[in-house]
Amino acid sequence: MGKIILWMLVAFGAVSATASALGAIAYYGGFIDVSADTPHAAIVYDFIAEARDRSIERQIREIRPPADLSDPERVLRGAGNYRAMCANCHLSPGMANSEIRRGLYPTPPDLTKTSNERVPAGGVSARRFWVIKHGIKASAMPAWSKGGMKDSAIWDLTAFLGRLPALTPEQYKSMVAASDGHAHDGLSRKDHGGTPARGHVDKPGSRPHTH
Ligand code: HEC
Repeated sequence: MGKIILWMLVAFGAVSATASALGAIAYYGGFIDVSADTPHAAIVYDFIAEARDRSIERQIREIRPPADLSDPERVLRGAGNYRAMCANCHLSPGMANSEIRRGLYPTPPDLTKTSNERVPAGGVSARRFWVIKHGIKASAMPAWSKGGMKDSAIWDLTAFLGRLPALTPEQYKSMVAASDGHAHDGLSRKDHGGTPARGHVDKPGSRPHTH
């Protein structure tokens, strides 16, 4: 009996030593591919996605959406910010894909489609609020709070995301046009540097973007 246990320990030690040596070769030899145009192995992707979902689920426990989340004014304010800051990565109604989205890995989810994200115990709105506020490490999803976006504006975006999959391209355009445009803190554009135009403005005289 004692001998069997001893042999099992030796075998276990040999397997772990080999695994560590292979890991070290891959790591120090530069064999871990960080390019965005080669996907992770499915098992690695699932491992990271599971860590992400569990982490978010734990951190949103205390988040309570405001009572007026479905207020049309909120949704409208969110529309302008979405157009200015999110649509390039997450698409908008009638937009098939974008150049930046094609190149990103992980691919930003198409937020115009009904979500297939895991609904956590805290609810999908709390999850979206958290993701917009804190971002997701080593993906392209920014922590918008670091750029100065206030919680109220993040809730406006969350409110808008709830409506987005049901919008036609025309409805989307008219909501963006009616919205206050790009205002980080839910203030009107007058309070946001006084920029008269809606959304982001290119520098005067800048050339259109061609390849
Ligand atoms: C530069 C590209 C980029 C921009 C700009 C961007 N996102 Fe993201 N976003 C991502 C990526 C990539 C993910 C997926 C991250 C992951 O799961 O690893 C993501 C994930 C999300 C999710 C989680 C969705 C889900 O199904 O799990 C939400 C919600 C979201 N983004 C909202 C927004 C909003 C709102 C804005 C604008 C204020 C925005 N994003 C701007 C790249 C971007």
